[in-house]
Amino acid sequence: MKLIVTESYEQSAYLAARMMLDVVREKPDALLGLATGTTPVPVYRYMVEEVRQEKADFGKVRTINLDEYIGLDGEDPNSYLYFMRKHLLDACRIPTGRVMIPNGMADTQAELDRMNAFADANPIDVQLLSVGVNGHIGFNEPSDVFYDRYHAVKLTQKTRESNSRLFSSIEEVPTEAITMGTGGIMRARKIVFLAAGEEKLDAMKKILEDGEVTPKCQGTILKFHQDCTLFLDKAMAGQIRPAAYVEVRRA
Ligand code: F6R
Repeated sequence: MKLIVTESYEQSAYLAARMMLDVVREKPDALLGLATGTTPVPVYRYMVEEVRQEKADFGKVRTINLDEYIGLDGEDPNSYLYFMRKHLLDACRIPTGRVMIPNGMADTQAELDRMNAFADANPIDVQLLSVGVNGHIGFNEPSDVFYDRYHAVKLTQKTRESNSRLFSSIEEVPTEAITMGTGGIMRARKIVFLAAGEEKLDAMKKILEDGEVTPKCQGTILKFHQDCTLFLDKAMAGQIRPAAYVEVRRA
């Protein structure tokens, strides 16, 4: 794992966007693994800016998302399809034919089969990633095992509480989701990872400091990835003592 210590979260997002764009420059039909949530929003803003200024060409780019809530329609503003359209897909003119995201309204098993068939045949060139307060990646919640492929999960109370900020009440937060497995995330050729905010500090310590790789904090498995670059601002990085094998650089 490589850790790049930045001046600010804004700089982390800018550098993460550059890394994503470099992959597209090298491989115009790259398959981008995408995440939703608060953390990647400025990353997408920078990517969209580059496309608008015609400095990047997304004419062949394909995308696959980590997860989607079960029970939310793509038109629902809290669905991840809606989020992706709003923050990236529409502005970059990526048509639905090049977008793989679980359909939260379809039969769950059929969706898992569809997503897994695609993921098995199409390696992800670069996966954008953040982490939940409990160390989840995608919606792979603390567990006794690491799941490999797309599967359905029950969301923990902690995750529902954390995500309720985007809904009008916690009761509206779905209780289940479809997520790429931790195994699928680990098969991405490259991972661009960001985290920000004090509430993520505990999870980031478990991920970066010497310690066990455990499904109780799913993000710890990223220690084993061959090409994972993590961007942290100096305020957060200053509170963490990375393990010896983490290559630390200043931006
Ligand atoms: C989103 C996802 C989640 C989020 C994580 C952090 O597709 O899979 O793992 O990355 O919950 O969310 P934010 O960025 O909102 O703190």
